[in-house]
Amino acid sequence: MNFAIQDVTARQVYNLLIGLVAPRPIALVTSQSESGQLNAAPFSAYNYVCTDPPVLALGVTNRPGGGFAPKDTARNIRRTGEFVVNVVTEDLLQAMNICATDFPEEVNELEMAGLETEVSSVVRVPRIRQAHAALECREHTTLEIGRSRIILGEVVSVYVEDQFVDPAGPYIRAEELHAVGRMNGLGSYVRTRDAFLHQPRISYAEWLAGKRS
Ligand SMILES: Cc1cc2nc3c(=O)[nH]c(=O)nc-3n(C[C@H](O)[C@H](O)[C@H](O)COP(=O)(O)O)c2cc1C
Repeated sequence: MNFAIQDVTARQVYNLLIGLVAPRPIALVTSQSESGQLNAAPFSAYNYVCTDPPVLALGVTNRPGGGFAPKDTARNIRRTGEFVVNVVTEDLLQAMNICATDFPEEVNELEMAGLETEVSSVVRVPRIRQAHAALECREHTTLEIGRSRIILGEVVSVYVEDQFVDPAGPYIRAEELHAVGRMNGLGSYVRTRDAFLHQPRISYAEWLAGKRS
């Protein structure tokens, strides 16, 4: 089947893209309003886009309804310039899902989800205490594209629980972290527990020597 984008609705494009660009990492983003009201929400239009400098991207659509009202996360980041990405692992899945509920602006999603906060190292926005890893970010740029905002955040500090760091690299002990990924958006996720495949890259010299895997 082929889908010409001009022939399908925005909702159908969404369905196609989220089914195909998957699994996606999930950023449980903490942010704060100018008055200090805490906010937490998950985003899977999320990835790092470069490492020197370290920059990650979040795709935040505007609130449903056809207008241009930003979600609380996008508004907070625009106004305070800071946020924290808390890494979503198996043990945080339910709490993350509660944070996605469309609570009124004055409700602190973290309280609803039974999550606590911990002071961050560099930014004023706290991280989630129960998260095993978190990326503290300062807004680099926000692009407005159609009804979405693409937020580029420069990572200014990285927190990882000691048990998940192999100091040799340092490397993240990703096989032990049990991060979850989002699939097609209908409440579907994937575990990474016991799911790793290993396929080392082949150098050109190895290729010439006949190595194929
Ligand atoms: C796993 C998951 C991933 C999500 N990813 C996105 C996303 O990438 N972009 C987006 O705009 N909304 C996404 N949402 C929906 C937001 O989390 C939801 O609209 C939330 O209420 C926004 O909260 P806020 O207004 O406090 O920022 C996602 C929801 C879930 C459960």
